[in-house]
Amino acid sequence: MDEEGAAMDALAERTTSDHTTTEIASGRPAPWWQTGILYQIYPRSFQDANGDGIGDLAGILRRLPHLVELGVDALWLSPIFPSPMADFGYDIADYTGIDPIFGTLDDFDALLAAAHGHGLKVLLDLVPNHTSDHHPWFEESRSSRDNPKRDWYIWRDPAPDGGPPTNWLSEFGGSAWEFDPATGQYYYHAFLKAQPDLNWRNPKVREAVHDVMRFWLKRGVDGFRVDVIWHLIKDEEFRDNPPNPDWRPGRPPVESVVPLYTTDRPEVHDVIAGMRRVVEEFEERVLIGEIYLPIERLVAYYGTDLSGAHLPFNFALLNAPWDARRIAQLVEEYEASLPSGGWPNWVLGNHDRPRVGSRIGREQLRVAAMLLLTLRGTPTIYYGEEIGMVDVAIPPDRVRDPYEKNVPGIGVGRDGCRTPMQWERGESAGFTEAEPWLPTAADSDVENVENQRDDAGSLFNLYRRLIALRRRRPALTRGSYEPIAASGDLLVYVRSLDQDRIMVALNLGAEPVSLTVRGAVSNGRILVSSSADRDGEEVVGEIYLRSHEGAVVGLDPAP
Ligand code: NOJ
Repeated sequence: MDEEGAAMDALAERTTSDHTTTEIASGRPAPWWQTGILYQIYPRSFQDANGDGIGDLAGILRRLPHLVELGVDALWLSPIFPSPMADFGYDIADYTGIDPIFGTLDDFDALLAAAHGHGLKVLLDLVPNHTSDHHPWFEESRSSRDNPKRDWYIWRDPAPDGGPPTNWLSEFGGSAWEFDPATGQYYYHAFLKAQPDLNWRNPKVREAVHDVMRFWLKRGVDGFRVDVIWHLIKDEEFRDNPPNPDWRPGRPPVESVVPLYTTDRPEVHDVIAGMRRVVEEFEERVLIGEIYLPIERLVAYYGTDLSGAHLPFNFALLNAPWDARRIAQLVEEYEASLPSGGWPNWVLGNHDRPRVGSRIGREQLRVAAMLLLTLRGTPTIYYGEEIGMVDVAIPPDRVRDPYEKNVPGIGVGRDGCRTPMQWERGESAGFTEAEPWLPTAADSDVENVENQRDDAGSLFNLYRRLIALRRRRPALTRGSYEPIAASGDLLVYVRSLDQDRIMVALNLGAEPVSLTVRGAVSNGRILVSSSADRDGEEVVGEIYLRSHEGAVVGLDPAP
């Protein structure tokens, strides 16, 4: 059997034990979140099981076989907790329940048990920076100035002119301060006014959220993706943010100031270390932080002596120009910046950013998949990426995203990347039998899981082949990264661990490219080609790539 056939077989025979700890060639066991692949589900849009046009937990349960077939190791669910849905679940009114839109706690337990039965881990979205204004904590806090929960949120007197206490801006437009006439003070909200920020300087808040974490961890949840973790602490002196001289109209208003005093404050690392300690009370759990910062600041979130997040999400590819040299530079910068023992990770898309195919063009999706699944570090796949879903144009009367409603017309809307998963041909692509909460892509009759499953050369099957290969080859899961070439549209690198050596060659452009390869990387065989038609081809001294093509090459052992 050839390498690829063996990899597919390994996938088919996978058992639960593959997912806990992988013994790798170097003999050191690695935690699952280092060797595994994460998959983000936006629950409203994955699968509707109860016919209300909105996805739910029973729907996710029904679709677990898709994740098993794909070969991922863990699913992260965007928020499923009781919420008024002002920000579609990122405004939580009860941290330890399930919103009826999504189901019940019993449904959650059933999903967790089934996922675990398939060897899949389940991560929840922890949103500790803010609650809903309907959370009982906030209702108490706003009820009077001397309520015991007053200091659980961030309240300030008006400025001398009666206006907001500082110039701090909301991410979703306007001031981040909302005046509450009942008690004559302003409260701070980094996002919507319906999302008041908790005061993480208050130890009682820390304890309360730690207990929330324990509630889910005891239930068997495998970890958390922590929402806007770099926002948790704000300046103790409430200093104004400096103006941003580079801001221009047409850019999001929040960028008109530099968020010097509202995010990435030094004290935040102590808060994160506290969360990490809670996670460490349990076996094999993971803490992932959502952080949008330049690489040199991002890596601080591993914490002193790795006491912070296991994986500070690396979003560098979300904005990177799709250019071989620039990508090689950012990989090298990231690799060079990681603290000793810090494990890397890569992301191509999420529920807040345009889908990768809309940014770089559909013809590059195979190359992007190959990049994501062969770089050093844990990859996260955003639902639908595996079939090449792109952003759907949302007609004005169907806009749901509060960010787009508050700041219309400059392209910040997030509905386009949150549309229903495209499962099959037919009305609403098999997502729902009702009117879907967001429109389904116009081409969903063509681009869907059902069609791609049957097509050996599809993007979906490329994802499967890459994931199976990654699982099988220690060089890809745990090996080092060595840049080989980055010029024009050609990006080439080698991953290796002990005797296992793999070369990845990507053509980021439309013109064919070739590279003469010498020495230790000169000979090998293509294990996975992006169009599936060159698998098994020998590479001798030269690698040739067609338009928009990529190849993963197993290198012959060094002489
Ligand atoms: C980041 C989340 O990913 C985004 O969807 C949300 O609107 C904000 N945090 C506020 O929670």
